[in-house]
Amino acid sequence: MENYSRRILNAAFFLAGIVRRNTIVIYERSPKGICFFIMCGIIAYAGTEDAAPILLEGLKRLEYRGYDSAGILTINGGSQFELKKDVGKVLEIHLKVNLLDLKGTIGIAHTRWATHGGVTRRNAHPHVSNNGKIAVIHNGIIENYKDLKAQLESEGFHFYSETDTEVVPNLIEYWMRIRGANFVQAALNSFQSLEGNFAIVVIDGDSKTMIGSKNGSPLVLGVGQDRNYFLASDIPAFLDRTKDVVYLYDGDTVVITQQETDRYEILDFRTGKKVERPVQSVSWDIEHAAKGEFDHFMLKEISEQVETIQRAASQDRQTIEEITARIRKARGVFLIGCGSSYHACLSASYLFSKLASFHINTVLASEFSAYEDFLKEDTLVIAVTQSGETIDVLDAIKTAKQKGCQIISIVNVMGSSATQFADASIFLNAGPEVSVLSTKTYTAQLAVLTLLAFSLAGKYDEGVRELKYLWNVVYNLTSQNMRTRLKQLADRLSTSEHIFVLGRGSLYATALEAALKVKEVSYIHAEAFAGGELKHGPISLIGKGTPVMVFVSKDTESKILSNAMEVKSRGGYLIGIGPSAIDAFDFFIKVPENEELNPISQIIPIQILAYQLAVILGHDPDRPRNLAKSVTVR
Ligand code: F6R
Repeated sequence: MENYSRRILNAAFFLAGIVRRNTIVIYERSPKGICFFIMCGIIAYAGTEDAAPILLEGLKRLEYRGYDSAGILTINGGSQFELKKDVGKVLEIHLKVNLLDLKGTIGIAHTRWATHGGVTRRNAHPHVSNNGKIAVIHNGIIENYKDLKAQLESEGFHFYSETDTEVVPNLIEYWMRIRGANFVQAALNSFQSLEGNFAIVVIDGDSKTMIGSKNGSPLVLGVGQDRNYFLASDIPAFLDRTKDVVYLYDGDTVVITQQETDRYEILDFRTGKKVERPVQSVSWDIEHAAKGEFDHFMLKEISEQVETIQRAASQDRQTIEEITARIRKARGVFLIGCGSSYHACLSASYLFSKLASFHINTVLASEFSAYEDFLKEDTLVIAVTQSGETIDVLDAIKTAKQKGCQIISIVNVMGSSATQFADASIFLNAGPEVSVLSTKTYTAQLAVLTLLAFSLAGKYDEGVRELKYLWNVVYNLTSQNMRTRLKQLADRLSTSEHIFVLGRGSLYATALEAALKVKEVSYIHAEAFAGGELKHGPISLIGKGTPVMVFVSKDTESKILSNAMEVKSRGGYLIGIGPSAIDAFDFFIKVPENEELNPISQIIPIQILAYQLAVILGHDPDRPRNLAKSVTVR
């Protein structure tokens, strides 16, 4: 499954055109944007049993894909819809409104990770058309929804949500009610006019027909015994009911009619023609299936960086430029965060300085109160936080707010506390990070901060281009070959008591992050130093065989390599990470030179190394001891 999606992604980039930069093949982005999997979970059922319990169970299993709001809609014994949806996690909503008393044997359900529109009940799925007869759940982004909405409004349609999704049921209603098409034809026509990526399931109350279609976002069909059918973003949603699945391809549109549930039909919405797909049996258990081919979420999330860095870099230009203007106007800018998020801030401070000649104060959120006296009304505080709930960050934000400062948050979780306090927010769009360790959200933070630095330097387009070119590098860095090679290093390091890490400039921040990754998941003591600090004390720790990682880049090469030689001459085991090897390296991890983007690419092999160390040492990489995903204690 993993190789399959990597192949698909590769093919998509290949088809989009190829550019060469240095010796690496770079895949140019298509003008309409890359089809990435925006997280959200969808599950639909048509069959002979009560739909609500099946849908509720499916939603719980899909919650790793999104958890800010959820909803279920069924067609009851007649042709009426019964709908319950709300903000919150699936179980919280269920406790509040009892999702199980929805009647009917056909229904759709959705767990949301907000992308278009805030976290509100109105924006939660399912969405229903104006005449109340068509209902939809959707995962992905409909890029041309504003145009479609305007066209529908001119036909008298009205909209209650801020979502892109709501155009879909209304478009289908338009084709049926105004243009006289039947439900299937109306759905096919509608899907044809959508731009962007989507997995959609739509149901019609009158004909009790369910249609699922995909274009760039995941959707699989489950074929159960006794005329029971499932459509879902991911197999675990229905794996307790059936192991027989049909993998759908882009364009595939499954039509299931409740009157005839002993058969389903797959059409290609682009041609209207019938397509045949084999039913295949999966042998996974539920836990395994949620992670796909990966044994742990940490490795899955490391591998997702091929997509997530690009998503983080695909920001709304106007938002970035408005925030850039605020940064320029401010008298005093603070970048604050904790743990990995702080390392992203520190890394960015070098970039702001080098690229935009802009001084930024980088402070650990937990130490921020020491700077209170410098906070004025024209001070800008940029809080970087994956969860948006870290108490140290929220305390710092509140302090700054009391002083009248402007607050910007760079956050992954939409609707989180940090976004509520902030005057403006930039979202990482990395999807839920299930492993306790920050991996994909760390590089997403770096991508956003890099974009801001380029924008501040008046080089927004260059920044976008550079980040886009990184795709191929990240693809190679997360490949199976790289993992196998890093496993060899992990075997060598797994018996070490201490590991030291050196870097200079922005790669000093990378060294700090690398040490954090290694220590928090392997429990091996790992410590980072700025290369120049080695001679001021830490060198006394280096003896025969002491492992020392060294991050090398073009602009720090001469100095950091002389630090490396200091380690080598004391018998240290040198691990080089960078564009070219030197003889002194005992182990070399090649990462092509990416200039300002080195901090994003160079950390990836060490994330994998940390993962491998945890596995070798028998630790759970997703749940390291004593740690929580969201740190809400002081
Ligand atoms: C390390 C890690 C933590 C978080 C820190 C801040 O892998 O995940 O160091 O970076 O707890 O969390 P957020 O970014 O949610 O504020």
